[in-house]
Amino acid sequence: MNNQKILLGITGGIAAYKTPELVRRLKERGADVQVVLTRSAREFVTETTLQAVSGRPVRANLWDKEAEAAMGHIELARWADLVLIAPATAEIMARLASGSAPDLLTTLCLATEAPIAIAPAMNHVMWSNPAVQENREKLTNRGIRILGPAVGDQACGETGPGRMLEPDDIVKAVCAPVAVQNAEQAPLAGKTVMITAGPTREAIDPVRFISNRSSGKMGYALADAASKAGAKVILITGPVGIPAPDGIDALNVENAKEMYAAVHSNIDNVDIFIGAAAVADYHAVNINAEKIKKSDDKMSIELARNPDILSSVARLQDRPFTAGFAAETENLRDYAIGKLEAKNLDMIIANLVGRNRGFDSDDNTVEVFWRDGEQSFPTTKKSVLAKDLVALIARRYREGQAAETENTKTELPAIMVRD
Ligand code: PMT
Repeated sequence: MNNQKILLGITGGIAAYKTPELVRRLKERGADVQVVLTRSAREFVTETTLQAVSGRPVRANLWDKEAEAAMGHIELARWADLVLIAPATAEIMARLASGSAPDLLTTLCLATEAPIAIAPAMNHVMWSNPAVQENREKLTNRGIRILGPAVGDQACGETGPGRMLEPDDIVKAVCAPVAVQNAEQAPLAGKTVMITAGPTREAIDPVRFISNRSSGKMGYALADAASKAGAKVILITGPVGIPAPDGIDALNVENAKEMYAAVHSNIDNVDIFIGAAAVADYHAVNINAEKIKKSDDKMSIELARNPDILSSVARLQDRPFTAGFAAETENLRDYAIGKLEAKNLDMIIANLVGRNRGFDSDDNTVEVFWRDGEQSFPTTKKSVLAKDLVALIARRYREGQAAETENTKTELPAIMVRD
């Protein structure tokens, strides 16, 4: 970090007591540190201490007449090579997300061209609050790095995610080579992810079809999140009324057989497959060439099973990491685990569905199951949920790859003996 100019913003959380140590660690690595305190931060840590460890006068006031005579806040914004905010409270995240600038630190953040990294610290329930998670999402989308938070005991006596990373871990994260930082920001860089989305339509005549209420929102949100995580995304979609996410060309299909064909023609080199489409289980055996005329009081349509796209992918010899969805109206857990096993999946994402529930809603609530684990995701926007699901899928995928490499290594001596 030789001569890197770090503007350290400290906001009002109990973890502020660790910041003199953070300043010392940054300086040991050769950084030049300028501290900016918010008013609440001064309740937790003193200017005198921070001035002593940083070797620079601490700035705390946007209305400092002396400094501002020379447009001090703009000078500081230009001076910084990196703006690091630790601890970052829910309040500073909200201010950064909304672009409001009532104090020196937030003004600097708007005026700087330097990268910004924040180390959130708050009670775990606050961290899980949808408002905080939406702000986190907005900040990440704007390229602000989120360092942590860590999981563990909290000052309030509870346990969970929300602890500020330790000073050493913050320093390691900001010093990490660009490649490592990119891997953190883009966990699917270099990977190809195929996602199916939306409903399928099974024609019964030239103007009528059997379908379902899927809007494509869940699958499209996953496609967007995977693309933002660095993946090349192949989105195969049934008919929906929403545009494809930026930068993704969707392959449009109408029915299950077309979706099956599109999936299998593009599956080579796919690393991760996510089946979010609500694929019709049956199609009409005979599709009337002309519009069916009203005649008898009752009529019946003979249906035949469609191919199961998800399990066909999961059964490929050189198969990608395969995640499916389970849409259920009852017994969510049992049915989902049943599908995980029956379809030979790596993961299943289970949602309760109904009118305006799961299907066609902007929010979703899911339970995720894999062979030796599970995780619940509370109700949140599909865009926010998709990001968390993609992070979980990326982690499980990487763990699977690491285990495979380990197995190959342990098998090696046996092969050598046979030779
Ligand atoms: O599109 P939205 O309005 O946003 O709604 C989202 C959603 C509710 C559609 C989505 O979250 C979801 O649950 N998608 C899967 C719907 C479904 O068909 O579930 P299922 O339990 O019937 O099927 C299990 C899995 O098998 C699914 O991954 C499905 O894509 C797959 N499948 C099913 C039948 C078939 N012939 N081929 C398949 O690949």
